[in-house]
Amino acid sequence: MSSHSIDSARLLGRIRMLGDIGRDVDGRLSRLAASDAEKLGRDQFVTWIADAGLEVAVDRIGNIFGIWRACGITDEKPVILGSHIDTVIDAGIYDGCYGVLSALEVIQTLKEDGFVPSRPIVVAAFTNEEGVRYAPDMMGSLVYAGGLAVETALATVGTDGTILGGELGRIGYAGPHEPGFLSPHAYIELHIEQGPVLERESITIGAVESVQGISWQRVTVEGDANHAGTTPISMRRDAGHAAARVITFLRDRAKNSNSPTVATVGCISFEPNAINVIPSRATLTVDLRDPDEERLRQAEAALVKFLDAISQEEHVEVSVERLARFEPVRFDQRIVAKIEKAAKDRGLTSRRMTSGAGHDAQMIARIAPAAMIFVPSIAGISHNPKERTNDEHLIAGVNVLLDVVGELAREVTW
Ligand code: GLV
Ligand code: MN
Ligand code: MN
Repeated sequence: MSSHSIDSARLLGRIRMLGDIGRDVDGRLSRLAASDAEKLGRDQFVTWIADAGLEVAVDRIGNIFGIWRACGITDEKPVILGSHIDTVIDAGIYDGCYGVLSALEVIQTLKEDGFVPSRPIVVAAFTNEEGVRYAPDMMGSLVYAGGLAVETALATVGTDGTILGGELGRIGYAGPHEPGFLSPHAYIELHIEQGPVLERESITIGAVESVQGISWQRVTVEGDANHAGTTPISMRRDAGHAAARVITFLRDRAKNSNSPTVATVGCISFEPNAINVIPSRATLTVDLRDPDEERLRQAEAALVKFLDAISQEEHVEVSVERLARFEPVRFDQRIVAKIEKAAKDRGLTSRRMTSGAGHDAQMIARIAPAAMIFVPSIAGISHNPKERTNDEHLIAGVNVLLDVVGELAREVTW
């Protein structure tokens, strides 16, 4: 068992403080990537890392790093731990923020306790993990890992017509460092589960060994606007009705597939969007996920076939734009085993699991051994202001992180 102990009050206080930053006029937490609201969160985080005596660095895609280079350490590869502080619309306070603030807490604890690491330890807050304003999601970590050119990412046009690079410059977070400037020895991310498994099984720690695959697409259906009262059903080219059929198709297929495939249409809009006009255009997003790459491909192929069929049956034109596509990822088994052992040594129950949500860790896994720690989410609720985790579970997760980081940071070779 570790002799170090984190400052729970400091950590919980910061989680709550960050959770109050960037709320809109209705009190909703919507800290979308590179927005004014997110700038306020970033500024607070930078203040905390600077106050903790860490070196602050920002890269060209706006990822923020707090670097602890203990005395005498120069070239060694760092252990990086972190997550994201951007949120979805009307979010809870834990998704991402818990991982970032726990990372800071772990580093601060080790530093204050006189721990002597063999390599730097770094807290990272990656840009635009949620992908709500700019697709793809996990963008900052994807760029960091070399999976997307920084210029391409900076040129991304957002749902509100803004350009990410312009917004990062405007809020003061277009940093000078090249993404990837720190090459990680290992990466570890602590996160709330955001699903029901740990709570249902009364288990405190998830040793996350994989992340399911993600496919994001935007489907546009073109029909004809016409009079809602005079146009017989048989004469319509109703883009809205075709879109509704896509939604029910995806749901029915997932439900009947006898597999973990999930399918979600989270955004939809009609044009001209008037009560008495048949929609001439419908735009909808499709989020498909599955832990198995082959099944994910089958789900995508089934959608293509269905879109072909409705374009014939509904006399509409359908086009598809790919927004994100990430294969399932397996994490580093050695770090997963360390997480299990740290949980056991602390007297905590644990189980191995697959993440249903996307995470920065799955991108950093491309360039370094990586894994994740989960703690239970009450009622499995996330991406919702009701998102909660018991303080006791929050603290347990950070203690496991502390122990694993302590070990990784002492490693001289891999
Ligand atoms: C990120 O939160 C995701 O969509 O999984
Ligand atoms: Mn998250
Ligand atoms: Mn999220």
